[in-house]
Amino acid sequence: MRALVTGGAGFIGSHLVDALMRAGYEVRVIDNLSQGRIENISRWIGLSGFEFMEGDVTDETLTREAVKSCDIIFHLAANPEVRLGDPRMHYRENVHATYVILEAMRANDVRRIVFTSSSTVYGEARIMPTPEDYSPLLPISMYGACKLASEALIIGYCMMYDMRAAILRLANIVGPRARHGVIVDFIRKLRSNPRRLEVLGDGEQTKSYLLVDDCVEAIMKAFENLDHGVEIYNVGSEDAINVKTIAGIVIEELGLRDVEIVYTGGVEGRGWKGDVRKMLLDISRIRNLGWRPRHSSAESVRLAARALKEELWQCPTSSGGTRS
Ligand SMILES: NC(=O)c1ccc[n+]([C@@H]2O[C@H](COP(=O)([O-])OP(=O)(O)OC[C@H]3O[C@@H](n4cnc5c(N)ncnc54)[C@H](O)[C@@H]3O)[C@@H](O)[C@H]2O)c1
Repeated sequence: MRALVTGGAGFIGSHLVDALMRAGYEVRVIDNLSQGRIENISRWIGLSGFEFMEGDVTDETLTREAVKSCDIIFHLAANPEVRLGDPRMHYRENVHATYVILEAMRANDVRRIVFTSSSTVYGEARIMPTPEDYSPLLPISMYGACKLASEALIIGYCMMYDMRAAILRLANIVGPRARHGVIVDFIRKLRSNPRRLEVLGDGEQTKSYLLVDDCVEAIMKAFENLDHGVEIYNVGSEDAINVKTIAGIVIEELGLRDVEIVYTGGVEGRGWKGDVRKMLLDISRIRNLGWRPRHSSAESVRLAARALKEELWQCPTSSGGTRS
């Protein structure tokens, strides 16, 4: 079976590629390397069963080529930076990209797709943990809006062209190879100044965090159960933690002491306009398939911070500052 992973050189995509290759699939990756890095997939390059195409999924000719002779498309390519507000960019890299992929699937008679959507489609949900059938879906960011639009496109294609889809609404995914998100942000800031940490918002934003290994297992589980129409699954941990706690964990894992934490206050306590303040997903639907998260949010954050310390943390000053 041949799988195409769009965005396969990125954070989650490259962990998914590892899992697929280890499970014996033939894997093709298309990635424009805008955020992804070749070293994330370099262990597979040159090995039989693996193919890398450098390019943009909005390139219709290239994407048709990439989709050709594949049995399943894992569509992860996106600009995942929720903080960026540029509607044109989000539309092009999320909605238009999804449309180009679906058209390439139709042209090549490829009928199965797994899509990484996001918890941000719920916006500020009134019910928590939030189930998949929660409504109305009122995203509060361009990113969330474009994920929701992409979901709708996928559903339309499934209904019209007998495709099957698993849509996974992911919580915050953390772990090695990540290059965006709160943990990476904190490590970078502390690397340039180990005595002071600026936290966006009031630190009370409380959300679910999931380790990337658990996320990849959920993606594989949804894929294995792709036998009819469209299924939507929430994927996250079973609890939530706030940004203040995350700051404490990161500082501890970096071995720092006496760090002054400064809260910007943000927009009504949010880190930025469009930042959801509370998120916890009802994961019983994917649990019913036999998947469950192995770690709590705090454990996931700690394991991710430990791994990212190895990748991102260098002694910021020759004297070592407060690093122990
Ligand atoms: N990381 C999270 O917490 C999280 C949460 C919810 C949803 N998601 C979704 O999961 C997917 C993967 O996210 P990630 O965190 O691994 O991000 P990432 O930036 O590491 O991965 C995205 C990859 O897509 C590539 N890419 C972007 N635009 C492209 C284009 N037009 N053509 C080809 N390649 C392109 C990038 O180079 C990158 O390698 C995304 O769809 C994201 O929206 C992530």
